[in-house]
Amino acid sequence: MTTFGMIFDLDGVIVDTAEFHFLAWKRLADEEGIPFTREDNEALRGVSRRESLELLLKGRKIDEETAQAWMARKNSYYVNYLKDLTPQDILRGSYEFLQNARAEGYRIGLASASRNANTVLERLEISHLFDVIGDGYAVVNTKPASDLFLWVAGGLGVPARQCIVFEDAEAGVEAALRGGMLCVGIGPTERVGKAHLICQGLYELTIQQMQHLLAERQLI
Ligand code: BG6
Ligand code: MG
Repeated sequence: MTTFGMIFDLDGVIVDTAEFHFLAWKRLADEEGIPFTREDNEALRGVSRRESLELLLKGRKIDEETAQAWMARKNSYYVNYLKDLTPQDILRGSYEFLQNARAEGYRIGLASASRNANTVLERLEISHLFDVIGDGYAVVNTKPASDLFLWVAGGLGVPARQCIVFEDAEAGVEAALRGGMLCVGIGPTERVGKAHLICQGLYELTIQQMQHLLAERQLI
């Protein structure tokens, strides 16, 4: 029997931590006198801590020691926000969708650019739902490179073509497509329009729809 995989991004797909990332970067930016708005924050969705800092700096130059110190400071603010996270914060339908997918025999992976992914999963009490967890420590090249998704697919023992990725970030959709995977985009068309299927949250999806996606690819 053919095995299929589902690989989930974390921030914006299973939980909305984007607001915490924004507040943490905003605090750092305010302290350092760098203008930073909610709109600016959209570009940071899905990208690594290092790249987020580069986007925040908008070409301003700082030395490496300062860069490390600022990233550590932003992270300490972010980790502080995570203390307030509870299972209540799991986005609508996500827990049920994960459970249904498991019950249907899909191999389940997590692929998050965040180095805090394990802490977030623990706070949400859902670590046990994943067969493989890929976080910001797993690979060197971050999204839009496909490395993290391929790393997770490899861990699941499922060929990339037989995996469906769930992503809310443009960089994440790009990474999934580069890896040869099917992709469900979560959010506005302007952001995730390149995905094979677009929705506003996992609550809108059924396992049957996923089977249709695989069938369209002549995998079922
Ligand atoms: C991604 C978020 O999941 O993780 C980004 O969408 C974030 O906003 C990135 O910058 C890295 O997170 P962390 O927790 O390692 O700083
Ligand atoms: Mg995301």
